[in-house]
Amino acid sequence: MSIPRPEIHFVSNSLRMKDAPYGALKRYISRAAAEEAFGEISGWNDYRPTPLLDLPGLAAACGLSSIRCKYEGDRFSVGSFKALGGAYAVSRALHAEAALPVSRPLSSITVATASDGNHGLSVAWGARQAGCRCVVLLHAGVSTTRQQLIEAQGAEVMRIDGTYDDSTQTAAQLAKQNGWLLIPDTAPQMDVAPLWVMAGYGTMIIEIEEQCHPTFEPTHVFIQAGCGGLAASICGLLREKDNSPVSPIFVVTEPDKADCLYKSAVAGRPVVAEGDLDTIMSGLSVGEVSTLAWPVLAQGTDFFMTIPDEMAIWSMQAITAGAFGDPPMEIGDSGVAGMAGLMAACADPAAREAMKLGPDSRILVIATEGPVDRKSVEALLARDLTGKGYPTLAELGDIDAR
Ligand SMILES: Cc1ncc(COP(=O)(O)O)c(C=O)c1O
Repeated sequence: MSIPRPEIHFVSNSLRMKDAPYGALKRYISRAAAEEAFGEISGWNDYRPTPLLDLPGLAAACGLSSIRCKYEGDRFSVGSFKALGGAYAVSRALHAEAALPVSRPLSSITVATASDGNHGLSVAWGARQAGCRCVVLLHAGVSTTRQQLIEAQGAEVMRIDGTYDDSTQTAAQLAKQNGWLLIPDTAPQMDVAPLWVMAGYGTMIIEIEEQCHPTFEPTHVFIQAGCGGLAASICGLLREKDNSPVSPIFVVTEPDKADCLYKSAVAGRPVVAEGDLDTIMSGLSVGEVSTLAWPVLAQGTDFFMTIPDEMAIWSMQAITAGAFGDPPMEIGDSGVAGMAGLMAACADPAAREAMKLGPDSRILVIATEGPVDRKSVEALLARDLTGKGYPTLAELGDIDAR
């Protein structure tokens, strides 16, 4: 096995309910909501499905039957799956506003959100298509490159102190004070915009089913999480279709420095991950679980796991270089996290056994972003991991050649 074996943590979800009816969870994410979103998104200019790539080299290195990877680096001009969520929620919010008895002209409406980068870019892009004003709140950890990308869409950026979770609270306060339409991707209570966001993400599942026609039957799905909206969307749509014991094993991967879902699974209820959440997986730097994602993930997730930053960096370096013999793939720090979790789980005998990973396993992962923040991606690709227990890419080639 040519994959490194980092220190990981994983927990089997004690709240998982196999065979439980999905019905009550449809209020969070449902096939009907995803299809409605797909109906709109597939009509947008420049819409085309993102590719579903086969990675036989990586599958062989991990001792698995196959790995299929939905590649979101080319999603519209935004470069991440987030284009599906925030922009769709902007469109829905503006439609709802237009239906009011006294509607305002678009140019007088401001949409606002807090973001780690990608969601803000999506909201800004959606606002630009619609012709309304946009304000995005960024916490101190978000790079200036990401700020510039958001500003290039015509949005106004406000910097705030603290973490992502602090920025979501400030965004909610400012929206209330100023009459802005708030478009969060996470919420502490029932709120319609994050539900639209999750419905928009469902476009990926609809495309994957089409791309796998006539059979889409992964045995395992590994998805990375920040607040859990993405994971809940994918998990919910899979479980709504089939929640029998033969439905895929669903594994949520987080950075060990921002592990709110893992901690919540251990506690058996949503808990906050404290600290500065300072992970290189910048899109996953979230300390509070989305209340709208949690019920779906609590019922439908089989395992929650965490990986160290170095594993994500090493995986980025290997995948970008095509080190496993698959075509090189440009991928961002959060985009690689699900795949990095898969590799780490395959290399860990206890995780491999618990998650039933083996030569018959067919895996689905999502490369959720390309190199959106090129400057930071290049810095991570140049990072020297010598002495940290990770093989160099040259050593990887040697191991494979043996
Ligand atoms: C590239 C990327 N992947 C995954 C995620 C995780 O999404 P969520 O916060 O819905 O869990 C994010 C969140 O911003 C992201 O930017």
